[in-house]
Amino acid sequence: MRIGILSDIHVDINAEAGKPVMQGLKAAITSKGIDKMIIAGDMASDYELTLASLQELEDDTNVECLFVPGNHDIWNENHPDITAWDAYAWLQAHNGNLVNGPRSLIGDWVAMGDLGWYDYSFGSPDFSIEEFDRMQIDDRLWQDKVKAIWGRPTREMHGYFFDKLKQQLNDLEGKKIILVIHALPIQDFTVQNPDRMWSYLNAFLGSAQYGELALEHNVRYVICGHVHYRMQKRINSTEFICNCLNYSDQWITEEPAAEIAQVLKVIEIH
Ligand SMILES: [Fe+2]
Repeated sequence: MRIGILSDIHVDINAEAGKPVMQGLKAAITSKGIDKMIIAGDMASDYELTLASLQELEDDTNVECLFVPGNHDIWNENHPDITAWDAYAWLQAHNGNLVNGPRSLIGDWVAMGDLGWYDYSFGSPDFSIEEFDRMQIDDRLWQDKVKAIWGRPTREMHGYFFDKLKQQLNDLEGKKIILVIHALPIQDFTVQNPDRMWSYLNAFLGSAQYGELALEHNVRYVICGHVHYRMQKRINSTEFICNCLNYSDQWITEEPAAEIAQVLKVIEIH
């Protein structure tokens, strides 16, 4: 089974920048002979557009898209009255949303996952918990502060996802696991040698606990997104993959189709 991997597709932001990505994405899924897509969050900054885009991809390629929401997908930017929980629940209308539960793939292979959040563990210890809770450094406000309305303390949200994933991994002991999380699971994928601003903002990228959990359970692949990097790192028998399409001003080519053809990663499982 050939599995395509991509995250942070940001269909709306890229379209607004004059670089629509859907056609190129469909073409790449077809030309690479992909049997199943895994999208690790941030399809769009609007849950309705996320759902419509996932449906369009599936309808036009006949390839199922397994998906976990990213922080953008649950934002209230276009729906000021909704909570993050509302969008998170409505996104479950997509059958391949792994929030609905783990999915068997082929043989002993199982895909599972969830959004994941952050616990400040990747931030510099030079800052206090109170400073991280403010989510603002100088003029830069981390947008989750005003657009991801969970109504619970930030580190509690990390705990919510962590406990859920831990329970699922316990239940799936002995299976070959592909774990999909939007948030970062390892420090290596955060901004390295950060300036003062990023030594603060790294706090909002993920949690080392997700990576530790994956290693404890001998997870085969951990697929994440969020940071707009394209990186891969093997630790013991676990392959960590961060493979983001990103915003067009971060691309290495000019054309959406060329960029996607170059970036879309394929793994094969048997
Ligand atoms: Fe993100």
